[in-house]
Amino acid sequence: NADFQNIKLEKKENAVWFLTLNRPQALNALNSQTLNEIGDALRQLSEMDYDNAKVLVVTGSGEKAFVAGADIKEMSDLNADQAQAFAQKGQSVFHELNLLKIPVIAAVNGFALGGGCELALACDFIIASENAKFGLPEVSLGLIPGFGGTARLLGAVGLRKARELTFTGEMLSAAEAYRLGLVSAVVPQAELIPTVMKKVEMILVKSAVAVGLSKKSINEAYDLEVEKALSNEAEIFGSIFESVDSKEGMAAFLEKRKPTFIGK
Ligand code: CAA
Repeated sequence: NADFQNIKLEKKENAVWFLTLNRPQALNALNSQTLNEIGDALRQLSEMDYDNAKVLVVTGSGEKAFVAGADIKEMSDLNADQAQAFAQKGQSVFHELNLLKIPVIAAVNGFALGGGCELALACDFIIASENAKFGLPEVSLGLIPGFGGTARLLGAVGLRKARELTFTGEMLSAAEAYRLGLVSAVVPQAELIPTVMKKVEMILVKSAVAVGLSKKSINEAYDLEVEKALSNEAEIFGSIFESVDSKEGMAAFLEKRKPTFIGK
């Protein structure tokens, strides 16, 4: 679609769609325009019947990053209200992935950090390349996860591991993510898309209605809790933009230096 600048939306054989995050110069970081484009793409897909859309694969362009997070440059200028709105925008776009009646597979080809990890977690399941890295480094910037990470990491790795990963901002290797059950498979980068396509083919021969309704049923079981958690997360995400540390954390990243946090 010619209207998209930061993503690509492509239809492959058998009604399989690829949505590729495509801002490699910023490691595919999510700014508002990119979130809007993802939202538009998902709206287009949601209007299609099963003859035209059976599976969606989400991936990143280049060999380095899936998505390195929300765009720190854009966030560094936001006040609390704007930051809360930014979190709500990301959350609502990612929620569309859950509402889409077709399965959504994340093909994670590199860094999936912050908003990128949250995007992968919002997909139905994840297949990763060996160089993939997962993490929620928001605390290193003086922030908290804002695109559903506090709610969805919990569902993926359990309460204690979610706390540990969120408080330390530590990055997980693909192998560790596999061990924790965050990802379904880890393969060499050249095998990533072929491996995803093998799973896709298993899905394509099933009843699209049955797959779609099983997705709906799983998500409804789970989302009731998540929805409550999301509005709370966005509110806290907004309020932290009033802290001195958040300004320092984002400025330090952009100035390529270590932050000095004062706990205020
Ligand atoms: N936002 C904006 N720009 C980003 C970015 C981001 N999240 N991540 C990387 N970039 C940019 C860098 O600024 C750099 O741009 P320049 O060439 O113009 O300087 C370019 O992408 C390449 O990145 P690096 O030079 O940093 O690459 P590296 O190989 O040295 O490091 C990395 C890779 C470890 C992923 C590092 O880029 C990094 O730490 N990125 C930020 C990760 C992060 O903190 N993500 C969380 C964001 S907060 C968030 O997502 C909030 C939320 O929940 C809503």
